[in-house]
Amino acid sequence: MKIFVSRKIPGETLNKLFDSGNEVVVSEFDRPLKAEEFLEGAKGADAVLSLLSDHIDGEVVDAIGPQLKVVSNYAVGFDNINVPEVTDKGVVVTNTPSDEVNESVAEHSWALMLALARRIVEADESTRRGSYKGWEPGIFIGNNMVGKTLGIVGLGRIGSMTARRAKGFNMKVLYNKRSPDPEAEKELGVEFSDLDKLYAESDFISLHVPLTDETRHMINKDSLGKMKKGVIIVNTARGPVIDEGDLVDAIRDGKVGGAGLDVFDNEPNINPELIAMENVILTPHIASATWEARNKMGSQAVDAILDTLSGKKPENIVNEDVWSTRRQ
Ligand code: DGY
Repeated sequence: MKIFVSRKIPGETLNKLFDSGNEVVVSEFDRPLKAEEFLEGAKGADAVLSLLSDHIDGEVVDAIGPQLKVVSNYAVGFDNINVPEVTDKGVVVTNTPSDEVNESVAEHSWALMLALARRIVEADESTRRGSYKGWEPGIFIGNNMVGKTLGIVGLGRIGSMTARRAKGFNMKVLYNKRSPDPEAEKELGVEFSDLDKLYAESDFISLHVPLTDETRHMINKDSLGKMKKGVIIVNTARGPVIDEGDLVDAIRDGKVGGAGLDVFDNEPNINPELIAMENVILTPHIASATWEARNKMGSQAVDAILDTLSGKKPENIVNEDVWSTRRQ
């Protein structure tokens, strides 16, 4: 059977595919593929290992061919896939959630919060430019995190791991999710809050919601207007959760004290005004870029393909309902 891998992935995890006796085609380009390049490589494939930069819907499935059985997305998020359309075609979709990825993203959220609170990137740049002339009382004054309030928007697995780390800083944690989670409250010592209260009281806000019609641009002029002056906002979820234009205005007005963005509204493009702002830290969608996470993502993505092709239900199936009526 043919397996198409849309981009070489780090580590050794693809070896299991190469050793499986299938025809494995890895994209010759080490970059995101254009739609036509993706189709050219995937045409005739029984399985596709896709990245979040590949857009897959019913039309793409048709173009790949009736033999396609599984799309194994090398990411936790799967907003690049039109799941209802792919499900209609009888194709299995899988993703790669794991503790390793969740911890990695939670750690990155904290790295951004700490770096913003203590102005690490600005201070590093200035020091490298040679501006350090000896200790001064008035340079790069930031804020302690201890005792402050952290607002977690979306208390799923990553949100929970981000919240857990706040204990070490003795922070108060407010969280918002669809409905209160008494177990998490007990375990993590967090407090359920509606969004308005979370916005009004949080000194730091970390976003952990998936991208849906409901969450698209949920951080906008209106929600930013409800936030505490000087709030630090961190986004390691999906870029379009924030309206970048409104965020730029709120930073310029001083309403937002800093933003740590790992994801962007229109990746890989970044609003040039954000690039020019000193109290903004931009990282290139690397929250899950640790060896622990990448190795786990690779082995999960590979296993999902081999399991599905051999008739075994894969561990992280996104469209559970398709299994009994899937293409064989
Ligand atoms: C994910 O897994 O969804 C990340 O955004 C990329 O690893």
